[in-house]
Amino acid sequence: MIADELRARAACLREDIEQHNYRYYVLDDPLISDPEFDRLFRELQSLEAEHPELLTADSPTQRVGGAPAAEFSQATHRQPMLSLNNAFEDAEVEAFDRRIREALEIDAVEYAVEPKFDGLAISLVYERGLLTRGATRGDGYTGEDVTGNLRTVRSIPLHLPEGAPEVLEVRGEVLMLREDFEQLNRNQQAIDGKLFANPRNAAAGSLRQLDSRITAGRKLTFYAYGLGYAEGLAGFGSHSQVIDYFKKNRFLVAPECTVVKGLAGLLDYYRTIGTARKGLPYDIDGVVYKVNSLTAQQQLGFVSRAPRFAVAHKFPAEEATSTVLGIDVQVGRTGALTPVARLQPVFVGGVNVTNATLHNEDEVRRKDVHVGDTVIVRRAGDVIPEVVRVSVPGPRRAEDRFEMPVRCPVCESQVVRSEGEAIARCSGGLYCSAQRKQALLHFASRRAMDIEGLGERLVDQLVDLDLVRTPADLYALAEEKLAALDRMAEKSAANITAAISKSKNTTLARLIYSLGIRNVGESTARDLAAHFGNLDALMQAGIDDLQQVSDVGPVVAESLAQFFSEPHNREVISGLLAAGVHYETAAPRPVANGAAAGRIFVLTGTLPGLTRDDAKARIEAAGGRVTGSVSKKTDFVVAGAEAGSKLEKALELGITVLDEQGLLALLDKND
Ligand code: IVH
Repeated sequence: MIADELRARAACLREDIEQHNYRYYVLDDPLISDPEFDRLFRELQSLEAEHPELLTADSPTQRVGGAPAAEFSQATHRQPMLSLNNAFEDAEVEAFDRRIREALEIDAVEYAVEPKFDGLAISLVYERGLLTRGATRGDGYTGEDVTGNLRTVRSIPLHLPEGAPEVLEVRGEVLMLREDFEQLNRNQQAIDGKLFANPRNAAAGSLRQLDSRITAGRKLTFYAYGLGYAEGLAGFGSHSQVIDYFKKNRFLVAPECTVVKGLAGLLDYYRTIGTARKGLPYDIDGVVYKVNSLTAQQQLGFVSRAPRFAVAHKFPAEEATSTVLGIDVQVGRTGALTPVARLQPVFVGGVNVTNATLHNEDEVRRKDVHVGDTVIVRRAGDVIPEVVRVSVPGPRRAEDRFEMPVRCPVCESQVVRSEGEAIARCSGGLYCSAQRKQALLHFASRRAMDIEGLGERLVDQLVDLDLVRTPADLYALAEEKLAALDRMAEKSAANITAAISKSKNTTLARLIYSLGIRNVGESTARDLAAHFGNLDALMQAGIDDLQQVSDVGPVVAESLAQFFSEPHNREVISGLLAAGVHYETAAPRPVANGAAAGRIFVLTGTLPGLTRDDAKARIEAAGGRVTGSVSKKTDFVVAGAEAGSKLEKALELGITVLDEQGLLALLDKND
């Protein structure tokens, strides 16, 4: 055959094979037998082997995985991947529907309704129709680039049909069908390999393989449920149209996706899917309701990290019965003492549970739990298992009653429980090795400094042998010292030293989060980093300055101020910087000299045409800053419908109040 014919044959085979993949994995309606399929596949393989110039990135032969990667690179989401608020009771769903009806001023809302898949959220980016990147959700802003692994998933199209937009990001869930999960565990058993507790863990483990050939051997499935960033995409009117578009473009969409009307429609759907749940091919942990109209979605916008236009209605957590063998006390990172019931092992919510939290002393009393009691245990999703109630009391001898210790079980410091607080705490601070261990584990965790390999066993030894007292000490650890530890070969010592050294290069948000300041989670750390831009400014900020950051209230501000006033903490920070830890400084704000540049804005109430995110983005683009609370430093308060106390405060302080039009006019104005 001449070159053109070969090229045409390869293209035709690729298209045929992808079409058969689609019929088999998405439509569940194959046209040809497995041997016939294999024949086409082998023909394409040998054609590409003989003529490597014919190989394309979207060839189905690329679905078998390639050479192992050393690590995953980071993938930044152009639009953050948010989470959903949860509802458990019908009353919460009723309130959700009421809020939407009131905001939209309509009688009955149309909702797109879907199963809530119990898998992993994924983003797929197609550029000019070609799959160019697949990434995990990560912290919602940055995930891991797992393109090579996702290419092996047969229900993910490697390219889109003709007429694809310039850029299209499809979001959905990667999961393992129950059938494939059971088969995988049977195979694992046969080779004495690791068994997975549930399909979700199996999917997560398979997707995070550095060797995509292993992923290719695990059967994963992708269900599409949402649109991310897009360029050149024809406007859609509703979510259900987006779903139809996905189907037309060969994506797999759950057949249970549909549209219902009003609260009654939602609750009806919840019960129908609840009944059908056991018969579905995959695990779900609830259903998701989304306002169907995209214009209405925009109008409703977002609160904090979740959309106001959608909610997850969760199924009740699974429960099981077990016996309390003992009640231990665990010391957490902030010194909190938590009573934990040691249980007769029981399989619940997809895992073997041997411990369940009792939260605090008052809860133990309220539930009246004693050692020897038979109890109901509950576990849902990733949540820590908990003791719900006693089902059959045990013998209840005097020693079976739980007493909160007066001294920390780890460091023997005094235990204090302040008035009005439910939590008892060890007063030992970082003198307490349990707190030190937890602080180090937190520091090294994936979302913080991401030091791979620095796990519990190693941290235990480092602290017990007094090799490491603070996070800063990690950077001075000699490789020989590490290599001499238990279960530590030279190679792993070298890997850990390398991982520690690599973590020196980080972001300000991660660094702030890694310090383990009370009440400062990941998203607060990110807001602080964006607001202050460097560590010095943050450390010098007073309570008022801190409260200028969106979502920072008096409690968080107090925690921060207290943390930084502690000389010991300042020493740890200077130790880290001296050891070479450094962060990328946030990109400088765009130079702007308009009327909004350098001004501080507070948004309150609902604006008629702009969502809060839009308004914020526009203000920031014009060089202004948006903060969460009104103070003397505020320059403008932008007030919409149902503005509350912030508007009152602005009027009290004599601050200029703008409506949406006023804001837009100001943003247009150039000095
Ligand atoms: S929509 C802005 N739809 O739930 C809303 N999420 O708590 C974005 N999930 O991380 C999510 N099934 O992994 C949506 N039908 C569905 C879903 C779904 C499962 C997961 C998803 C996300 C989490 C949000």
